[in-house]
Amino acid sequence: MAAALGRWPLWLTLCLGASLAVDRGNFKSCEQSGFCRRQRRIQPGNSPYQALLESLQLGPDVATIQLVNEVTQVPLLLELWGLTGNVTRLRIQELSPLRPRYRVPDVLLGDPPAERLEVTGRDEGTLELSLGPGGHRLLVTERPFRLDLLRQRELLCSVNARGLLVFEHQRRRRDSDPPKDPPGEEGAAQEGPEDGAGSTQSDKPAEPPAEPEEEPGAWEETFKTHTDSKPYGPTSVGLDFSLPGFEHVYGIPEHAESLRLRPTEGGDPYRLYNLDVFQYEVFTPMALYGSVPLLLAHRPRLSLGIFWLNAAETWVDIGSNTAGKTLFGKLLDYMQGGGETPQTEVRWMSESGVIDVFLLLGPQPADVTAQYGRLTGTQALPPLFSLGYHQSRWNYQDEADVEAVERGFEEHELPLDVLWLDIEHADGKRYFTWDPAKFPNPRGMLERLAARKRRMVSIVDPHIKVDGGYRVHTELRARDLYVKTKDGNDYEGWCWPGSSAYPDFTNPEMREWWANMFAFDQYEGSTEALYTWNDMNEPSVFSGPEVTMHKDARHFGGWEHRELHNIYGLYVHKATAEGLIRRSGGRLRPFVLSRAFFAGSQRYGAVWTGDNTADWEHLRISIPMCLSFGLAGLAFCGADVGGFFQNPGPELQVRWYQAGAFQPFFRAHAHLDTARREPWLLSPEHLALVRAALRRRYALLPTWYTAFYHCHRQGIPVMRPLWMEFPDDPHTFAMDDQYLLDRVLLVHPVTEPGARGVNVYLPGEGEVWYNDETHEQHRAPQTLYVPVTLSTIPVFQRGGTVIPRQDRPRRSTEAMKGDPFTLYVALSPQGTAQGDLYVDDGISFDYATKNAFLHRHFHFANGTLTSSSADPRGSMSSPAWLERVVILGVGRPESALLTTHGERGLGGFGVLGWVFGILGWVLRGVLGF
Ligand code: NOJ
Repeated sequence: MAAALGRWPLWLTLCLGASLAVDRGNFKSCEQSGFCRRQRRIQPGNSPYQALLESLQLGPDVATIQLVNEVTQVPLLLELWGLTGNVTRLRIQELSPLRPRYRVPDVLLGDPPAERLEVTGRDEGTLELSLGPGGHRLLVTERPFRLDLLRQRELLCSVNARGLLVFEHQRRRRDSDPPKDPPGEEGAAQEGPEDGAGSTQSDKPAEPPAEPEEEPGAWEETFKTHTDSKPYGPTSVGLDFSLPGFEHVYGIPEHAESLRLRPTEGGDPYRLYNLDVFQYEVFTPMALYGSVPLLLAHRPRLSLGIFWLNAAETWVDIGSNTAGKTLFGKLLDYMQGGGETPQTEVRWMSESGVIDVFLLLGPQPADVTAQYGRLTGTQALPPLFSLGYHQSRWNYQDEADVEAVERGFEEHELPLDVLWLDIEHADGKRYFTWDPAKFPNPRGMLERLAARKRRMVSIVDPHIKVDGGYRVHTELRARDLYVKTKDGNDYEGWCWPGSSAYPDFTNPEMREWWANMFAFDQYEGSTEALYTWNDMNEPSVFSGPEVTMHKDARHFGGWEHRELHNIYGLYVHKATAEGLIRRSGGRLRPFVLSRAFFAGSQRYGAVWTGDNTADWEHLRISIPMCLSFGLAGLAFCGADVGGFFQNPGPELQVRWYQAGAFQPFFRAHAHLDTARREPWLLSPEHLALVRAALRRRYALLPTWYTAFYHCHRQGIPVMRPLWMEFPDDPHTFAMDDQYLLDRVLLVHPVTEPGARGVNVYLPGEGEVWYNDETHEQHRAPQTLYVPVTLSTIPVFQRGGTVIPRQDRPRRSTEAMKGDPFTLYVALSPQGTAQGDLYVDDGISFDYATKNAFLHRHFHFANGTLTSSSADPRGSMSSPAWLERVVILGVGRPESALLTTHGERGLGGFGVLGWVFGILGWVLRGVLGF
């Protein structure tokens, strides 16, 4: 409640236009988070862990070795796998825990296939294992325990080289009884803490060793007015990774941070703990709404990933270190023929769970994202309409308002796919209902929208109003599906509806129930045109510690909330997406936007960067934030266009539309207290610029959709840092202001007020780039000064690529169906180009279940453009046809010949901007479609 009350006065200051700042006091620093403080105090170089090499057991695909803490004598079990596709997994658990530890379920797609391990060397104090055919070797050092991962003679990564392995074993509290587990549910997905004390690895729990005096806070921790009871005491885990040769690391969203992570020495580590942070600021390591514990490291010729599969509160320290290298590291420097190489140190610290790490060994950036995609799944292929433009605000008031806004788009000839309804649409914030006065006929409203080929999204949050007259509440209570307090009562907290209870989405039965609520006869007034927004699913609890759930709350199977906090939001997203699939009988793709996320959330839909502010720095930060999401698999990312808090001036609003048009999820959204800002409320000049940005987005939809298809199939982000495509060019390693859409377009949005020009870096030795609007050709590499006016969006097509467009302005994506395509063929200096186009029905799963898709490959060489099948499985008959081919980078030809299925015909000429050396000609044909 305290936190809730804390919010209201801030909103008032918002109305008065005061500048915004996060209240840092609401959120813990590392020093205030007991385990982070404890771990950070440990000095490097004193590891108490020893590997008992003689305990090695080599199974067909896993090697196990016992580790022992020489101070406490507590044994741990190290498991090692060499997984197919250049991934090494290591897991460390207690050999005989008092109580099972949480191992994160439902993130990995399955048990990843493993290679055969072999012992290839052994001497006193070291063991060498080969990890399958990739040429990777693992050296296990006995004392202190350490792992070194090598490819041939190159050291890729060392583990516990700084001796920061921490495994706070479970123990009995000194002078007290063991904690009691509350009564729990049957049938946990994995062995739960209620299934009895003891481990899966050992028959009988070990006698707890004598414990040293614990520091205050180890068994109970207080933050502000909240006390965390910590019945199981300190259980944190931590480990360090040394990355020789690396100076650039990325990932671990979500932070409002530059793409390249900064060293954390002297400040807080980056925090991963899903939180509803009111008025977040930029360039801080503070936690935000979502967490993906995946870090990428990049240097010329090598990219690596560290995936730390743990759903508890986690902190990540980043440091650079040359001086702290051990003799071994220095020896390797010498062996590798260099002087001292730079090195990045990464240290992970989690409050509970086990150490389960996947080292993704690349070697290319796209290999790392693909390796991660094979483990956790790739981005679900979105329905095509969701790549169009979304108009939202908190709130569109009623049906008349919805009608008027939709009409506004029509009258001003602005494309629009989706209108959004925020929390005020529901009857007293009882989700799955409609306010009867404001939305008396939701079905009629949805049908009207659908008739105009548009759709709607309504919000469905995961906090449920405690109200005996609300069916959702009474059923969940009757079925006992709510999260529990530590004492076994339904957990209640304060959120939008007032007193609220929180469904336990970690329980499969809860998810099943929730998914069924999206059936058309359950969610009254819904139709196929209604999709879903899951907000506040961190979960946000206004009255809870740090505006979230108490860590000692209990979930299905008896697990404490602390163990799984970061995955709660993923389960909400998953159950909702499942509901939308199910309501169509499994036929149609879902669209669900979620604010909270975890590793694997990409399988369920889109995410956005939450409550940003209408200022230039939040516009700028949307680029590295979405790039970082993309590296961590969450390709379908966007930021509230225009900024959520406060009112953007017209220049900022236009620039944000221009930037948003080139980000994957394109939605304008605004706070309840902001002034209305539908585009036609701008001056006619500014409105025209917004229209132009929207149309540019729609014309490129075939390119966007094809990029999403690449991402869905290969796990490569849609919005990419330049270094993914130019991995050996260090100029690109720390860029925050420009990026690539797929591999074909370079985008450098204007994000400075009053800008008259921007410096655009065009990468690629010997390559060329073409200005997307003027078609002017530029050699690379170079930093090009591009003069800009308010209408300019600096975008460049890469020489050597072909992109598909649909250039006819329409009201929505559905209205573009059947429109012809134009291919933009941008020639390389060698006069060649290639690209592709993916087409399907845009809405169903038929592309996957019936191969109902078309995937064409285009290749231009020796003056001939050829279209061939990129995937012979694709068997869709499509009305799609090719209208024009625009070739950038050649002089005007004498003639052009069109051959379709062996038949020849002459194409007509329509020259487009040939003064720049461009040929355009009109082809009316199907070119093999
Ligand atoms: C918080 C969300 O981040 C914001 O987008 C939404 O408008 C409000 N909740 C109200 O639902």
